[in-house]
Amino acid sequence: METKSFPDDFLWGVATSAYQIEGAPLADGAGPSDWHLFAHEAGRILDGGHGDTACDHYNRCADDIRLIAELGVNAYRFSVSWSRIFPQGVGAKNPQGLDFYDRLVDGLLARGIEPFLTLYHWDLPAELAARGGWVNRDSAEWFGDYAHTLFRALKDRVRFWTTHNEPWVVMHNGYVKGAHPPGRADLSQAAQAAQNLLRAHARAVQAFRADPTGKIGVVVNLEPKEPASDDPRDIAAATDAEAYMNRLFLDPLFLGSYPEEAARIFGKDWPSFPEEDMRLIREPFDFLGLNYYTRSVNRADPTASPDGAAPVRQKGSTYTEMGWEVHPQSLARTLLWLKERYGDIPLYVTENGAAFADPPEERGTIEDHARVDYLRGHLVAAHEAMRQGVNLQGYFVWSLFDNFEWAFGYTKRFGIVGVDFASQRRTPKLSAEFYRQTIGARGRNLFQRA
Ligand code: FCB
Repeated sequence: METKSFPDDFLWGVATSAYQIEGAPLADGAGPSDWHLFAHEAGRILDGGHGDTACDHYNRCADDIRLIAELGVNAYRFSVSWSRIFPQGVGAKNPQGLDFYDRLVDGLLARGIEPFLTLYHWDLPAELAARGGWVNRDSAEWFGDYAHTLFRALKDRVRFWTTHNEPWVVMHNGYVKGAHPPGRADLSQAAQAAQNLLRAHARAVQAFRADPTGKIGVVVNLEPKEPASDDPRDIAAATDAEAYMNRLFLDPLFLGSYPEEAARIFGKDWPSFPEEDMRLIREPFDFLGLNYYTRSVNRADPTASPDGAAPVRQKGSTYTEMGWEVHPQSLARTLLWLKERYGDIPLYVTENGAAFADPPEERGTIEDHARVDYLRGHLVAAHEAMRQGVNLQGYFVWSLFDNFEWAFGYTKRFGIVGVDFASQRRTPKLSAEFYRQTIGARGRNLFQRA
């Protein structure tokens, strides 16, 4: 690798997910998802927002593909809405739902953009949620069948696939904190959901192998967890926090067993899982996607559930609108840690980006200097990890658009393209221009002094 640039075949992308941008969740025969119902429950979403219109991408797809191409990217990460394909989650297929993704994939390929497809980015068909969702062991079969249908329809054109986006968040926000559907706080259900998410992933990987083309992986969110002091209690809390967020899903996938801390963290709610499940979950896959945003520094706090760790704000650090510390070095550290702990598997940064309070649009652009700095810092860190031998093959900015940020509604803007939700006008920000130049220069500009 050249010391001050990225390889020629590096994937440079932007990322989105179905429910956050598409809008028209019930169009053309689609069934409702759990997120559709949840967002419409009073009090669930900070600003009362929902995904009924979002970025109206479902109706503006052709224009949006042109816009993506203008960014100069060679890859686009998006997710498929399961309930567009199977309105009830299983059973009868809805061909019109598939047509939408068919057109999207063809449109991307026509512009030389590699589609990078996520099967599950959190919107579960409402019918399946009503049958227990991820707590139901049948969910592995439901997901395997859905995945199989998409492989049959799109594998001739889509080379990069991922099963779940951030299964830890599905478990933690859905079943521990209750901030996402199904809105529960039940550690026993959380443990079952974790296991079934992993089983479902493995079933999809098995279905993928029926035909030898393409590559499949899974996407996890990781944050280095550091102790706030040398106090052994803080050190132990940071270790538990790290086991809970960073190793709970990766250890079973790569090593075949859960971290030993899980039994303590979940207490009586941690079951002993069948050996055959653990064998299934270890099904080999081709690459790992890392969503990286921040690190966290923790002190021991027995009231902090379930890992006993409470994050501490760092003086002198910059924080994003999400309250996340900007800490690019921790991206390099995380990439190196992955290689060291789990082996030399190909890696992609499948999400990295930041919400900031952007200045108002002026003269046709939005001067989001803070986001430019964030992206620059993290790209340099990614490059540093590669220089140290990490097999990083691509990087995706979260996100293409300002969009529906889950429980925060439309209050947090992550886009490198701004969206005025009233008019649906798109305005590329300064960060979009920075990214376009960076891709054109294969990153060489990152190492030149301004
Ligand atoms: C990740 C999600 C993505 C977006 C970003 C900010 O956890 O995968 O959909 O919400 O955070």
